[in-house]
Formats: sequence, structure tokens, C-alpha cells
Amino acid sequence: MSVTTRDSLTGVYDDKVIRQFAVMSVVWGVVGMLVGVIIAAQLAFPELNLGLPWTSFGRLRPLHTNAVIFAFGGCGLFATSYYVVQRTCQTRLFAGGLASFTFWGWQLVILLAVITLPLGYTQGKEYAELEWPIDILIAVIWVSYAIVFFGTIGQRKVRHIYVANWFFGAFIIAVAMLHIVNSAALPVSGEWFKSYSAYAGAQDAMVQWWYGHNAVGFFLTAAFLGMMYYFIPKQAERPVYSYRLSIVHFWALIFTYMWAGPHHLHYTALPDWTQSVGMIFSLILLAPSWGGMINGIMTLSGAWHKLRDDPILRFLIVSLSFYGMSTFEGPMMAIKTVNALSHYTDWTVGHVHSGALGWVGLVTMGSLYYLVPRLFGQKKMYSVPAIELHFWVATIGIVLYIAALWISGVTQGLMWRALNDDGTLTYTFIQSVKASFPFYVIRLVGGLLYLSGMCLMLWNVVMTARQGLKAGAVPVVQIPAVAAHA
Ligand code: HEM
Ligand code: HEM
Repeated sequence: MSVTTRDSLTGVYDDKVIRQFAVMSVVWGVVGMLVGVIIAAQLAFPELNLGLPWTSFGRLRPLHTNAVIFAFGGCGLFATSYYVVQRTCQTRLFAGGLASFTFWGWQLVILLAVITLPLGYTQGKEYAELEWPIDILIAVIWVSYAIVFFGTIGQRKVRHIYVANWFFGAFIIAVAMLHIVNSAALPVSGEWFKSYSAYAGAQDAMVQWWYGHNAVGFFLTAAFLGMMYYFIPKQAERPVYSYRLSIVHFWALIFTYMWAGPHHLHYTALPDWTQSVGMIFSLILLAPSWGGMINGIMTLSGAWHKLRDDPILRFLIVSLSFYGMSTFEGPMMAIKTVNALSHYTDWTVGHVHSGALGWVGLVTMGSLYYLVPRLFGQKKMYSVPAIELHFWVATIGIVLYIAALWISGVTQGLMWRALNDDGTLTYTFIQSVKASFPFYVIRLVGGLLYLSGMCLMLWNVVMTARQGLKAGAVPVVQIPAVAAHA
């Protein structure tokens, strides 16, 4: 279909920005995971730091976390939220020009991160490393994102606001608040790119982990649940198992997450009672998390057979299994006595990646595999067997990654606390490093598998897009005239 007149353009969805974000999510996924593989290799073979400051583990690690969370995950969320909000509200994006600004602005932020982090510019706050001029740019883009998203909701043609939009909306508001409060800093006079946090001591730590945990809760969880609530029912061709549960799930999750941050600061200078509040709310968090997981998985009721031959659905459903696993593990690790063993060990990194690779990664990949052919006017992805292969290499990669780090994490925790009869330490630190070595190699292999799956996906996406572009099939999709439930 080609629709060219000005008038009729208000009657079609604004999909260009979605295409741009979707493709860039996959590109940044490859880059971010490649850096993940490099730092995993450095932990096993330190010579790979190359003796240069720019390529050292300490500088590449934040590059990895920023690239996978904000570039891969972020672009995936922009793409899916812009798609879902238009389809479920049956209206075009509000302020299309501003939406385009969020795309170019976000790519600029990522580029600035790629340049400044290896150069050593950092605020030293985990997941909030970028220096103040970039932070201001992020705030401007995020507010623009909020205007586009909520403006679209405001001009919706359907009365009901579908639950996926509630999750996306909460994510946009919470991230704006977290980013602006946690990034408050004073620039140093004379050094234009350097600043110090506006907070000090235990308060700084508290604000940072209020931010850090809710970055997990809203960026890495609530927003991807928004994805889940749209793409699982679509791909399974079934309504959400319980719409009522999805609403309870939403309110319980966003209320509880806000209080759990202190579990990152057990046994520190933070007042004891705040640590206990963090622990209790983390335990409560198990209930809404599992409520959401069950709601997603049960959406397949009566359609389980589809899992056998639909690799996209498999990505989406297995992501929920990993979500369930990491949200069971998290509350356990938040118990103070368990945390006394797990904190500072690889167990934490294993937990992170069961959530990151298993949940965030797989749900994003599944959703993009659903979206990409539709965005480029194709019936399906260029190669369906490649999706199948991707699923298996990614899943095997995740299992190798997290199993290796469970073992090395518990080993480290036990070795560090082992005491001789006379009260001296049984093991030196270097002995625990040596014990970790084989598991670092296994993690590296797992990471390589996961990365190879991502490269396969990039190839498949490029081929699908090329096919669509060559055939002039990139669609202009009409907004349905009669408002129906999406
Ligand atoms: C090929 C895939 C990946 C590999 C090989 C990999 C590897 C690594 C390594 C080696 C670290 C440093 C661990 C340490 O300091 O001991 C790390 C940290 C981290 N990675 Fe990944 N990663 C991958 C994918 C991802 C993805 C897709 C995400 C998020 C969506 C992610 C999120 C993180 C986070 C949040 C941390 C910080 C963990 C912490 O502080 O405990 N990674 N990764
Ligand atoms: C009910 C849900 C969850 C709870 C209660 C929880 C709890 C925890 C706890 C106790 C830690 C260790 C803190 C420490 O010892 O330093 C932790 C670390 C972490 N978790 Fe979770 N977790 C949950 C779900 C998730 C999910 C789904 C993801 C990812 C998608 C995730 C990502 C992370 C990250 C990135 C860290 C490392 C933070 C850092 O030290 O840099 N968590 N979580």
C-alpha cells in the first residue's frame, strides 16, 4: 500500500522509528555482548587487558553493562513500547518528530558512552556511570519519550488502556525519577567533564542502591513485563490468562520494588532497620513476580502444542521460566544470612545473568522476531531454522554461564569464611581465584554461545529487512477505522 497525501498520513501508524530502534537493538546487542565476552575472557586470562588503560577490565565492564542494558535493552523497549502503544490505543504516535528525536538522541548517548567510558570518565556509580553533560542529555530524551508515550495514550481511540501500557508507563515515570535524583552532582570547577555526587557517605550509598535496584525493577523488569503482556498473547493467539491478575500484579510489583533497594547494602554502614526493611520487601516481592510469571505462562493454556514448532513462542515462554528462577533466587539472596555468603561472590553475577540473559535477553529476542517481519512487510523471518538454532545456542549458553557461576560463587563464599581452629583463614585469596579459574572458562564458553546466537539474529534481521526493502514491501499500516480491542 502506498499512502502519500498529508491527510491520509494521520490515518497510518508511525512505524519508521520502530524499525530504527528494532534494528539498532540487535546491533547494540552484538556490540554489548561482544564486550561481555571480552571482559569474561579477561577474568580468565588477565593478559587480555593488554596493559592499556582503555582496554582494562575496569573500563570495559561499565561499557558492557551500559551497552547491554541501555543500548540493547533500551532500544528494544523504545521499539516495542512505541509499537504496543499505537496498536493498543489505535492511534498514531503523538509528536512523531519528538519520537524521531528520541531515536537520534538515544544513539548519541550510546555513542558518547562508547567514547567516554573507555577514556575513564565516570561518576563511579554502578549503572549511572555517565558524566553530568550526558546525564542532562538523557533527562531531556527521557522527558521527550514520556511526552510521546503519554501523549499517544491521551489521544487514544479506545477507552481502555491495555495493561502492557501500564507497565511501560510506570517504567518511563520511575526511570525519569530515579535518573534525575541519583544523578544530582556538582561539576568540578576547572575540569569540565568531572563531577561529584550531591550526596555523601551512607546517604549516597542509599540513594545509589535505591536507584540501582529500581533500575532492575523498572528498566529490567516492569518494562519487559509490558513486552511480555503484549507479545505472548499475540504470538500464542490467546488472551492473557487472567486480566484481573495482571492488574493486581502491576500494582503489587511497582509498590514493592521501591522498598527493596537496601538488600544491596547488607552489613554496611546503613542503619540495620533499613537493611531489614529491604530484606522483608524482597521476600514479599516473590509473590507478585511469580503471579506475573504464572499469568504469562498460563496464557498458553490450551495451546501448549504450539511450543513444539514455534521457536518465537519458545523464546518468550522460556524467558518467563528464567524470570521465575531469578525472582526466586533474588529473594533468597536478600536474606541477610544467605547474603553473608553470596555477597561479593560470582553467585551475584550468576543471578544477574540468569535475569539478564534468560529473562531480558530472551523476551527481547522473541518480541523482535515477532516484530521485524511485520515491520518490513514479510510474512516471517528470512530464516526460521536460524531462529530455532538461535534459541538452542542461547539456552545452552545461559545454562553454562549461570551453572558455572553458582559453583564458583558458593566455592568463593565458603573459602573466604573457612577458619582454622586457631581463628586464622584457611585459604588465601589467591587460592580462591585459582579455584574459580575453570568456571571462568566455562562462563566464557557460555558467553560465546550466547553471542553467536545474537550474531545469527543480526544476520537474520538484516536479510529480512533487505528482502522487504528490495521488494518495496515496507508497509504503511492503516489504523483501523472502527475501534476494536487490540
Ligand atoms: C554474551 C553475553 C554476556 C557475557 C559473556 C557477559 C559477561 C559479563 C561479565 C564477565 C561481567 C563482569 C562480572 C564481574 O565483574 O565479575 C558482566 C557483568 C554484568 N553484565 Fe553481562 N554478559 C553478557 C550479557 C549481558 C546482558 C545481555 C546483560 C543485560 C541485559 C548483562 C548485564 C550485566 C550486568 C548488569 C553486569 C554487572 C553485574 C554485577 O555487578 O553483579 N550482561 N557480564
Ligand atoms: C524478586 C526479584 C529479585 C530480588 C528480590 C533480587 C534480589 C537481589 C539481591 C539480594 C542481589 C544481591 C545484592 C548483593 O549482594 O550485592 C541482587 C543483585 C542483582 N540483581 Fe536481583 N533480584 C531480583 C530479580 C532480579 C532480576 C529479574 C534481575 C535482572 C533482570 C536482577 C538483576 C540484578 C542485578 C543487576 C544485580 C547486581 C547488582 C550489582 O551489585 O551491581 N535481579 N538481586
